[in-house]
Amino acid sequence: MCGIVGYIGTKKACPILLAGLSRLEYRGYDSAGISTIEKNGLSLMKDKGRVKNLSNLDGIDNLEGTIGIAHTRWATHGKPSKENSHPHQDNSQTFSVVHNGIIENYNEIRKFLTDSGYNFYSQTDTEVIPNLIHFYFSKDTVNDELKFLRAVKNACLDLKGSFAIEVISKLYPENMIVVRQDSPLVIGTCENEKYLSSDIPAILSYTRDFYLLNDLEFVVLTKNSAKFYDINLKLIKKETQNIEWNASSAEKDGYDDFMLKEIYEQPIAIRETIGSKISMDNKCEFDELPFTKEYLKSLNRIYIVACGTAMHAGLSGKNAIEKLCKIPVEVDIASEFRYRNPIIDKKTLCIFISQSGETADTIAALKLSKEKGAKTLAISNVIGSSITREADYCIYTHAGPEIAVASTKAYTSQVLLINILAIYFAEILENCETKYLNKLKNDILALPKKIEETLKCNDTIKDFSKKIYQEKDVFFLGRGIDETVAREASLKLKEISYIHSDSYPAGELKHGPIALIENGITVISILTDNNLVKKTVSNIQEVITRGAKTLVITNQELDKNMFDIVIDIPETNCFISPILSVIPLQLLAYYISKEKGLDVDKPRNLAKSVTVE
Ligand code: F6R
Repeated sequence: MCGIVGYIGTKKACPILLAGLSRLEYRGYDSAGISTIEKNGLSLMKDKGRVKNLSNLDGIDNLEGTIGIAHTRWATHGKPSKENSHPHQDNSQTFSVVHNGIIENYNEIRKFLTDSGYNFYSQTDTEVIPNLIHFYFSKDTVNDELKFLRAVKNACLDLKGSFAIEVISKLYPENMIVVRQDSPLVIGTCENEKYLSSDIPAILSYTRDFYLLNDLEFVVLTKNSAKFYDINLKLIKKETQNIEWNASSAEKDGYDDFMLKEIYEQPIAIRETIGSKISMDNKCEFDELPFTKEYLKSLNRIYIVACGTAMHAGLSGKNAIEKLCKIPVEVDIASEFRYRNPIIDKKTLCIFISQSGETADTIAALKLSKEKGAKTLAISNVIGSSITREADYCIYTHAGPEIAVASTKAYTSQVLLINILAIYFAEILENCETKYLNKLKNDILALPKKIEETLKCNDTIKDFSKKIYQEKDVFFLGRGIDETVAREASLKLKEISYIHSDSYPAGELKHGPIALIENGITVISILTDNNLVKKTVSNIQEVITRGAKTLVITNQELDKNMFDIVIDIPETNCFISPILSVIPLQLLAYYISKEKGLDVDKPRNLAKSVTVE
């Protein structure tokens, strides 16, 4: 949701900000804007549409300032328009602000400010922020060096909701103030320069040294200093963290789209996820986790909580933990979990999966679980993200930056990591045969090669996409672990190709959905579980009888003549088969979207990181 960037240094800010916005565009892309500190005050340029529109505005090349803030928007309050674009300024044009998040009490604040004589020119929640800062600034009679900071702090204390904000002022031409609460913001630092961004990849090409902010830590930046203050404006010490991701992983590297690149990065991503956690002679290693046999035995249940694709990865976690560890697992959608009064106590372990680590619903569910006394474990791809700092423990997928809105390599690495976690728990619990676990570990170590093998289906899938890209409905079927992949494949297809699709447990079809099957409709099935394959084939037979076109993804011996197209994938253990079986279906969604001429990486109405409720 919304991307913000900032720069303070010795170079012209504008080109750096525009480049940063382009990299952050996947977070929101309905309008963009920039404000810099110029000799004659604050510049302000903004427009509806993509960052490209902003770059083409007359006069933007004349901006000379070396301090600036910028924003690319995913509209929440107020339609996409120039007026609603950020940055927003106070009435006296003393302060420029960019904001990511939602101010829940903006109506009350707006009324208060209107009653105090302020005017509003947009429908956004954000416009209250610069005016509130101005309100506190003008009431403050102490003219010391903290006056600007006090005004920002006082304004922030009135705000309810989530925010990451950057503030500049024409009265403080050397400074920028930034703060966050439940919305992401990182500060990259190098000699005489500070780079700010909603996420790390957008500024990786400038630095690897980052300050990661906690909620309500206020930062006063100059080009060569960063001072951190707590809520009482006491100075606090903060160390930088070195981020190992390489800059080229945040570029397209010759691929047409980030999504295709990220699909093809899966052998490397999976290798990185395996890391040093698995070795054949030893037990799985998670140095960062303290779980004992007594603790794991004491658990009455585990919740896995996440949204969207991450929730689908959670479903394979349930399969592995229940089967290998014999602990009951419930998988919940975070936005439901947080409001359904779940039964949680000290004997509950709650696992939260989030690629970005910034998803508002997942963070709220995590906070609730902590309040109710559960231990919390985060699985994330983003080092230092909110969820990893909020949870008691955290483990990383190490899949590298994922830029495309549709998640691919993050999903497969989440599936893998939670399976390795299940093996780790099973080894501690000593309730599973070592031979069996070793076989599974062997299969995991073989995955990168098998993913490469699976990717060879690219051309067949591309051809098939040409046949079905004009369909209105597509159905996905599977049983057991394959049903979790059917869900993920269906989500992938709808989000980037805008084709309606549904997924069903294959056996459930005849209880209603089969009424939708008519001549020529496409039904895609996944069959990797030897114990269930015959049952699923019978269900596919039922749709063939009713005229369906069938694509089957399988690693089983089947009578292939039955189906229109069969994609053979390498054989592997059923626990981890989603990591292979999803790949042809990621490619299918991708090529259908391309065939329809859509923007694969930035599908309509979506944003990569959903930091609002
Ligand atoms: C789909 C997709 C979303 C995310 C969901 C959770 O391709 O990417 O469904 O999986 O918004 O995001 P994270 O994992 O960042 O919490």
